[in-house]
Amino acid sequence: MHGGGGTSSDHKEKFAFMKQQPPILITGGAGFIGSNFVLEWFDSGRSAGSEARSNPLVNVDKLTYAGNPRNLERLSGRPDYRFVHADICDRPRMERLLQEERPRAILHFAAESHVDRSIMGPDAFVETNVRGTFVLLDAARAYWASLGDEERKSFRFIHVSTDEVYGSLGPDDPAFTETTAYAPNSPYSATKAGSDHLVRSYFHTYGLPTIITNCSNNYGPLQFPEKLIPLMITHAVAGKPLPIYGDGLNVRDWLYVTDHCEALRMVLERGRPGETYNIGGRNERSNREVVEAICEILDELRPGSSYRPHRQLMQFVKDRPGHDRRYAINAAKLEQEIGWRARETFATGLRKTVQWYLDHAGWVEDVVTGGYQQWIQQNYGERSRA
Ligand code: NAD
Ligand code: TYD
Repeated sequence: MHGGGGTSSDHKEKFAFMKQQPPILITGGAGFIGSNFVLEWFDSGRSAGSEARSNPLVNVDKLTYAGNPRNLERLSGRPDYRFVHADICDRPRMERLLQEERPRAILHFAAESHVDRSIMGPDAFVETNVRGTFVLLDAARAYWASLGDEERKSFRFIHVSTDEVYGSLGPDDPAFTETTAYAPNSPYSATKAGSDHLVRSYFHTYGLPTIITNCSNNYGPLQFPEKLIPLMITHAVAGKPLPIYGDGLNVRDWLYVTDHCEALRMVLERGRPGETYNIGGRNERSNREVVEAICEILDELRPGSSYRPHRQLMQFVKDRPGHDRRYAINAAKLEQEIGWRARETFATGLRKTVQWYLDHAGWVEDVVTGGYQQWIQQNYGERSRA
């Protein structure tokens, strides 16, 4: 399925354009980070990485529960954007797609991404995160081998991964660096770790120019409200309980999604094949602090709400099994080598995020349909108050 519509003369033009400029191909571009990346790719104004953005973009997504084509509605009809509805585990499809589209780079976002879902049902995580990454890598290897010398040299396979592969830190441990040993603790992080190892092996064994990025917890517009920040915002607005796992003192580093996308564009242009780059926001917060901050912003933005003060909705519930205590990222390598640094503070990023969800009640209503309600019942139904 190719999005964009248009007449056959439009299509010829599109084809001619695509021929002149090799596209970048991204997977999982209808999800949270992917759709922010795609939208920003076509937005002007931010300078870093802008040299790359004359390239067309092909977005391959299976549209699982987490993929939302509505995120990308405003791109429909653009000659330099193409949506392909496909599963990365479908090998013949991936091989054909690469030969047809002839991308100069692949950015691999597609994954099953929610830790709690990986605890309830790890199969899909092994399938997409491990096997899907393998299929994509192997198809990329064959395609890359068919390129001319110059194109082979400049080709990139960027694998978007997580800090969760490094496991859990104690309160005084130094932040994760790129050489921290892998110690994944959830089926999600274990499958991401497996995919990272495969990506690494394709560089060392076959010379495929791969780069791995490991980032901290993203937040911002368009995040599916199963993850901490959008779940708390949408629950608080509706006057529903705010379920905090355990004692609420687990710590995450928070990275505003726009900062992450900028880092990825810079890695695409300036990153060295075979390397790993950590991406973090220098914003370590306990979950309790995060939820309290959301409540305070809502108290201010919704002075007439009958749920004020929103913190009265906070509830401590049964902990997540294997719950990592703390993640922290040392992003010095990316900052020094590539010149990136997060622009958003947690205060500014969180305020923008809360405002976005308040301004997009229709988007929220659309995504919290039947399947979502079932998930909430399944994950939270049996978590009594701690
Ligand atoms: P998401 O769950 O919001 O989106 C995932 C997207 O991948 C969806 O559009 C989904 O339809 C698509 N997808 C899933 N399986 C697929 C398949 N088999 N074939 C094709 N498409 C498929 O995830 P996200 O939060 O945007 O995360 C993107 C990437 O970043 C993931 O690899 C994730 O592991 C990584 N990451 C995310 C965070 C975070 O805080 N969100 C932090 C660190 C790393
Ligand atoms: P989450 O957004 O699921 O990201 P991750 O597990 O990948 O870090 O969770 C962030 C933190 O918030 C994590 O410590 C678990 C906690 N959490 C809650 O306390 N309550 C919730 O309802 C959710 C979804 C998460």
